Amino acid sequence: SWQAHGGTQKTYELIYQLHTGEGLWWLGLILGVSALSVPLMGATGVTMWWQRYRAMPRIADNSGAQSADTVILVGSESNSTWGFAKALHDALREAGQRVHTAPMNQLATQYRQAKHIFILTSTYADGDAPSSANRFLARLDRFSDSDRPRFAVLGFGDRQFPKFCQFAMDTQDALLAHGWQKSLDLDTIDRQSTQEFARWGQTVGQLFGRELSLAYTHKHPPTQALELISRSDYGTQVQAPTSILRFGPVSPANRWARFAQRVGRKGLPRFEAGDLVGIVPPGSPLPRFYSLASGAKDGFLEICVRKQPGGLCSGMLHGLQVGQRIDAFIQPNPDFRPASGKHPVILIGAGAGIGPLAGFIRNNTHKHPMYLYWGGRDPASDFLYEPELGGYLADRRLTELHAVFSRVEQGAYVQDRVLDNASQIRRLIEDGAQILVCGSRAMAASIMHALDAILATIDLDVRTLERQGRYREDVFGTA
Ligand SMILES: Cc1cc2nc3c(=O)[nH]c(=O)nc-3n(C[C@H](O)[C@H](O)[C@H](O)COP(=O)(O)OP(=O)(O)OC[C@H]3O[C@@H](n4cnc5c(N)ncnc54)[C@H](O)[C@@H]3O)c2cc1C
Ligand SMILES: Cc1cc2nc3c(=O)[nH]c(=O)nc-3n(C[C@H](O)[C@H](O)[C@H](O)COP(=O)(O)O)c2cc1C
Repeated sequence: SWQAHGGTQKTYELIYQLHTGEGLWWLGLILGVSALSVPLMGATGVTMWWQRYRAMPRIADNSGAQSADTVILVGSESNSTWGFAKALHDALREAGQRVHTAPMNQLATQYRQAKHIFILTSTYADGDAPSSANRFLARLDRFSDSDRPRFAVLGFGDRQFPKFCQFAMDTQDALLAHGWQKSLDLDTIDRQSTQEFARWGQTVGQLFGRELSLAYTHKHPPTQALELISRSDYGTQVQAPTSILRFGPVSPANRWARFAQRVGRKGLPRFEAGDLVGIVPPGSPLPRFYSLASGAKDGFLEICVRKQPGGLCSGMLHGLQVGQRIDAFIQPNPDFRPASGKHPVILIGAGAGIGPLAGFIRNNTHKHPMYLYWGGRDPASDFLYEPELGGYLADRRLTELHAVFSRVEQGAYVQDRVLDNASQIRRLIEDGAQILVCGSRAMAASIMHALDAILATIDLDVRTLERQGRYREDVFGTA
């Protein structure tokens, strides 16, 4: 006679199978791999946390949030603002205050004793919040209505970016809209200026009726020496001298070390196309940033540099000979890169702005649809990356190239070509395309204008795409 297994026996068999993999080897494999990845994820997570924790300056004598007379909140991405916050913390403590310093995202729901709150924040990614402040505005709603301390916002930014200290301004506006009272007007610090910070310290001192000395000088991240390995020069005949400069790690003197470096592809810091390289030119304490046209896994660091009249850094870079060295550091820019997935990507640029766009195309080994709109002056002189782009079209890393030149018969600008192809652009955006724009401020403004005109017929605009993370700019300079 035959009798079917009961529920208990079936459960037992399933558990037996899960443990042994018998008859269900693929499930056993998935479970095995998942189990193995747990310690890996744990270890990498702890390492990431530890790196961030170590990068943050230690605040000695940090009072509790509810016992402090003064609160300092910090919005920072790459931690330089923390150094300024620590200087303020120490100076206020010396002035007899109990001070609590924390990231902006840790805004409490109330500060029982605090009379003053200082908000020091940087701005990132085209006017957005830095990572330690990206939940601050949402948390404001939860703050208690009674006994709000008076606030002052100090913005840290860089006047090279179009939206200088935009997030600091948004923070002040949001606090005022929530009914908070200012103790000081918003002030800004350009490129970590020691002098501007000391001047702000004097105004803060007046609030407390005493002299406050804020002497703090920011140190740039450690630099690494890089050697120029090749250069291609364009644009001199059309008064737009632009060079594609390719750097590698400095070759060790020893032959074996050189061989090991080449085999191990070592010596370059970690970076991706679209990140920035900071270069401090001789004769200036301030680094200049250049958008990277390659990723470290390409084995070289490439930038595309337009020489500015009288420009210190661009002049120095244009004067470099193969074999000469520069000192540089990497500044990540994770918001400016193609999103993962199969959606089309529309790349738009002019002049040296082609650099990161060419890097994205080079890395498009999965051959997702990529459309490049780019403007130069004369194909005989400044057609940057012309041979490479031909190769990318041939191997389908680039779907379409629309290069347009202004100093030829019936010349046009890149925004004209975008408008000419309005129906294609509209269709791509309806298909979920992302748009990445790189080049001068004036060009980006014209592109935004053209796109708004194109999108109006489908009830969309660039601001909406921007909010969805589908429109990103890397914009510099005026011309
Ligand atoms: C995020 C970011 C990315 C950048 N990426 C690139 C890039 O990929 N390629 C590139 O070539 N540059 C790029 N820049 C610009 C670059 O950082 C420098 O500002 C530029 O090279 C000029 O520096 P300089 O030391 O030569 O000029 P400075 O000595 O600082 O200035 C000399 C003169 O040039 C003028 N000037 C400076 N910059 C410009 C400009 N861009 N347009 C017009 N006039 C200017 C100044 O007003 C001044 O009169 C980028 C800037 C930023 C903020
Ligand atoms: C990728 C990137 C984007 C930036 N965007 C802006 C910006 O839109 N507006 C601005 O004023 N500063 C901008 N900055 C400059 C920083 O805000 C400035 O260097 C600040 O001092 C950095 O502080 P932090 O290191 O604490 O984050 C940007 C810097 C980088 C690297």
